[in-house]
Amino acid sequence: RYRCRVPRWDRPINPSIRKDEKKVGDVFDIEDLMKTLEPGQKISLCRCWRSKKWPYCDGLHKDHNICTGDNVGPVNIIRKKQS
Ligand code: FES
Repeated sequence: RYRCRVPRWDRPINPSIRKDEKKVGDVFDIEDLMKTLEPGQKISLCRCWRSKKWPYCDGLHKDHNICTGDNVGPVNIIRKKQS
């Protein structure tokens, strides 16, 4: 269960992900990524920094939003269906 925390500006936005790194940044090769997706399939990338499956969204943004009044959600990358 997600533990609600009162948001404060003097705390990091990232509470736990790869804290041993100076900066958390990721690169995706979009061509390689598209090869892994079936037409119509999508992947969702986390933007709330609460996912346990980082960098992918696992839905924890919903609890985060309820707890904090925030409105964050994932970036969805969708492979178009062939027409
Ligand atoms: Fe972070 Fe969904 S879990 S955006």
